[in-house]
Amino acid sequence: MKPLILVTGGTGYIGSHTAVELIQDGFEVVIIDNLSNSRIEVLDGIEAITGVRPYYENFNLCDFKRLRQFCEKYHRLEAIIHFAALKAVGESVEKPLDYYHNNFESLINLLQIMGEYSLPNLVFSSSCTVYGQPDNLPVTEDSPIKKASSPYGNTKQVSEEIIQDAIVANNTIKAISLRYFNPIGAHPSAHIGELPLGIPLNLVPYLTQTVIGKRPELRVFGNDYETPDGTGIRDYIYVVDLARAHVIAIKRLLEGKNLKSYEVFNLGTGKGCSVLEIINAFEKATGEKVNYKFYPRRPGDIAAVYADTTLANRELGWKADTSLEQTLFTAWNWEKAIRHK
Ligand code: UFG
Repeated sequence: MKPLILVTGGTGYIGSHTAVELIQDGFEVVIIDNLSNSRIEVLDGIEAITGVRPYYENFNLCDFKRLRQFCEKYHRLEAIIHFAALKAVGESVEKPLDYYHNNFESLINLLQIMGEYSLPNLVFSSSCTVYGQPDNLPVTEDSPIKKASSPYGNTKQVSEEIIQDAIVANNTIKAISLRYFNPIGAHPSAHIGELPLGIPLNLVPYLTQTVIGKRPELRVFGNDYETPDGTGIRDYIYVVDLARAHVIAIKRLLEGKNLKSYEVFNLGTGKGCSVLEIINAFEKATGEKVNYKFYPRRPGDIAAVYADTTLANRELGWKADTSLEQTLFTAWNWEKAIRHK
């Protein structure tokens, strides 16, 4: 029988790509998602790619009673990947209590249920936002965790602490936190991708929407940073490479290869890339022209962050190896595929 993995937030952007990679690697997947920031049609996309429709349950993880019923039904669960969370930095400043309530309560419920049903394995979706603006680049897993710049960032920092405390109290639990840098792109089939509801906040969906004509121009926030071309630098990682890392993390836990009961890995490419470099790579990959204009810096943005990926490369035997141009090409194909949605 195939191992059954729970993917919370599995109809979301990274969750759906991870569900695909898990299924293609021989796992069975059950998704819990309340569709607060995703669409049910994503299940069709996963099925179109893999030929398998994952099990699906629609409820909020803050509902502990419902979660317990879920565990009774799916009693052969072997591991959990926890993506489900509110994730918009700006919104978290306006609605901090929603963020603390939702992101903490869902995680606490999961950890409680893991103890109750002897479910030992957790992969947690964390973020490079926990580092703030690091003093040294590239940023390693040992870099200091600075005060978070938003309630969203704070939920990621504290969630990692909650998991570690839960492990101290219950030594059957093992967890891996994966700190993502900037995931971009879509599945090469263009059956799934990022579906921003409303106006996109992130660079690449805004860029592709501009090129397809949904937005008049791409606003480049800041050209006076202390970077070679003055624009902000990030570590853009292909979402399918990122999804593959989750499969490896799950296998590491199931096979007992983890060195400690709690581990943390940076998931990025190891290469910083500026906004102008993204624009140039997109134009080269697609032959399309990007209409952009410089605007003032966006409040809260940092100048530069990119990952030291040595630990993930060595311990997970994983590397993000899809080129930036290939990645941006998938983002463009996806934008064209959803043109009429
Ligand atoms: N940018 C623009 N124009 C836009 C959008 C973004 O110039 O329309 C620039 C930003 O100023 C930044 C870069 O593009 O320099 C990347 O911005 P994104 O909004 O795509 O990504 P962020 O790095 O700001 O944020 C992402 C995730 C967060 C996460 C954070 C961790 O969206 O959830 O990485 O650093 F917390």
